Amino acid sequence: MSVLVVSSGLGSPKTKSLLLAREAERVLVADGTPVTLLDLRELTLPLCGTQESFTHPHTARALELVAAADAILLCTPIYNYDANAVAKNFIELTGKGWENKVVGFLCAAGGEKSFMSVMPLANSLMLDFRCVIVPRFVYATGSAFAADGAIAHPDIAGRIAQCARATAQLGAAVKALLQ
Ligand SMILES: Cc1cc2nc3c(=O)[nH]c(=O)nc-3n(C[C@H](O)[C@H](O)[C@H](O)COP(=O)(O)O)c2cc1C
Repeated sequence: MSVLVVSSGLGSPKTKSLLLAREAERVLVADGTPVTLLDLRELTLPLCGTQESFTHPHTARALELVAAADAILLCTPIYNYDANAVAKNFIELTGKGWENKVVGFLCAAGGEKSFMSVMPLANSLMLDFRCVIVPRFVYATGSAFAADGAIAHPDIAGRIAQCARATAQLGAAVKALLQ
């Protein structure tokens, strides 16, 4: 059972999505769960639909990582009441690789009011690819982070650990069911 943690924040030098991703990765590593962290700032993907988008070597790498995972934790900024376009583009490019995967969400947002923003994406993953959506997600605003990037809010740190572990446990259960 392995978990792919994806960070789709492109903010430089710091993206809070990546801070969430690193904390989830830390929890899973400490638990002994096999985990891979994909920082999408380091794997620039073509826009889905452009001529080379499905033959691009970075698309092949993204597909390989998605295919190898049983569960995926998507750490995304909230833009315009939705996951950001980078997250959506990543899913569009790797489409069928998501079939039957367990998916958890960790969101970095500017304000409190976009709490339900990942639901359209969750719905599409359920309907398109029969993903099992973890019914527990993380929603963190700026106040959750210390200046050095540490997770400063104990509530958010607890939620990241719960979400990461629930994703790994459900991933193992779904993998066993599919065998
Ligand atoms: C184009 C744009 C749209 C945004 N839309 C929202 C939004 O709808 N709701 C919200 O709470 N925050 C919104 N924000 C704030 C970001 O979610 C916030 O800055 C978050 O920390 C970005 O994640 P990152 O640090 O990983 O880049 C928006 C920011 C940008 C740049």
